[in-house]
Amino acid sequence: RARYTGLINKYHDRLPLADDARVISLGEGNTPLIRLNNIPRDLGRDVDLYVKFEGLNPTGSFKDRGMTVAVTQAVSAGSRAIICASTGNTSASAAAYAARAGIRAFVLIPDGKIAMGKLAQAIMHGAEVLQIRGNFDAGMRIVKAMAEQAPVTIVNSVNPYRLQGQKTAAFEIVEELERVPDYHCLPVGNAGNITAHWIGYSELALSHGDAATAACSFCSGRCRYNCGIVRERPVMVGYQASGAAPFLRNAMVDDPETVATAIRIGHPQSWDYAWAASRESGGWFDEFPDEAILEAQYQLAAREGVFCEPASAASVAGAMRDIRSGRIPEGSTVVCTLTGHGLKDPDVAQRHAEAAVTTVDATSEAVRDAILGKLD
Ligand code: F0G
Repeated sequence: RARYTGLINKYHDRLPLADDARVISLGEGNTPLIRLNNIPRDLGRDVDLYVKFEGLNPTGSFKDRGMTVAVTQAVSAGSRAIICASTGNTSASAAAYAARAGIRAFVLIPDGKIAMGKLAQAIMHGAEVLQIRGNFDAGMRIVKAMAEQAPVTIVNSVNPYRLQGQKTAAFEIVEELERVPDYHCLPVGNAGNITAHWIGYSELALSHGDAATAACSFCSGRCRYNCGIVRERPVMVGYQASGAAPFLRNAMVDDPETVATAIRIGHPQSWDYAWAASRESGGWFDEFPDEAILEAQYQLAAREGVFCEPASAASVAGAMRDIRSGRIPEGSTVVCTLTGHGLKDPDVAQRHAEAAVTTVDATSEAVRDAILGKLD
């Protein structure tokens, strides 16, 4: 079996890159699709609930899928520098792929509102970090202007190559499940990722059922030129934090606020695309207060062994509520994207964990007493 060397090498024929482009990769993609056991049981509902753990990408978030393609294209087009605005993960990813490529990265981050792990990554990977006295949306406006005033390639998700890379998560899910999920739940910030998944599922649905398709990699050879397995598309469900929920309001939010700093965004760039994905798929948007997001993050960590960052947990908070209410019916196959790793933002996580640290003397007796006390 061939060594896995990243999503461009795997999906080259489905990506708009030149055949001879120098591939800038850190082995991203191929992330685990984990079936949850305890949470569905707690809910008392018969659903197949999976999380796609994108926090296991090389820099700890789904951004790497988009960045490998965007940076490969930028280098191939002769660019010597990239730029992005970011709530943290995009900047970490841009910095890493720029380092890999040997080009410069400029990242604009909101003043004091990004998780420490993400900032450390950008700095360690050698990016030029510009902290602006403003939020992500302000950074986004500036970066778009910069791309016209300086020789820098923008690698936010307004760069179409980003979405092309991120669509591959949908391919992996269908390959692994050997079917299309009924529902796909994601946290929504700038709305690039929900858009990218919809592109991925739509490309599969369009390319299949095509008599010219000789071999199907999505149904392990059961396809006979007319693959029924991937002609369907899932219902796309987007979840936001209540303090930063423009899709719920159907209006931009000027002062977004949430503990889930990754999705502290009030003016999503992929607004129209995300509405299209929602409408075409028969999906919906919903919102959660910070406490519900943190509770879902904790449930995932404590009940399933999966540690994601707060923003990511919005997908599971949403799925849990909609499964409980029956809006997502029993018998459904549901995939939640966990967009980033919990270690990105350990401070927030630790503050909300129930299990505390117990300090004891460094003796067998003290430790034994502590263990027996906890096992009661
Ligand atoms: N989850 C995490 C962990 C994120 O970092 C982001 C976006 C999202 C969800 C939302 O994805 O924007 O495609 O709807 N983070 C961007 C950043 C904005 O700068 O890292 P989206």
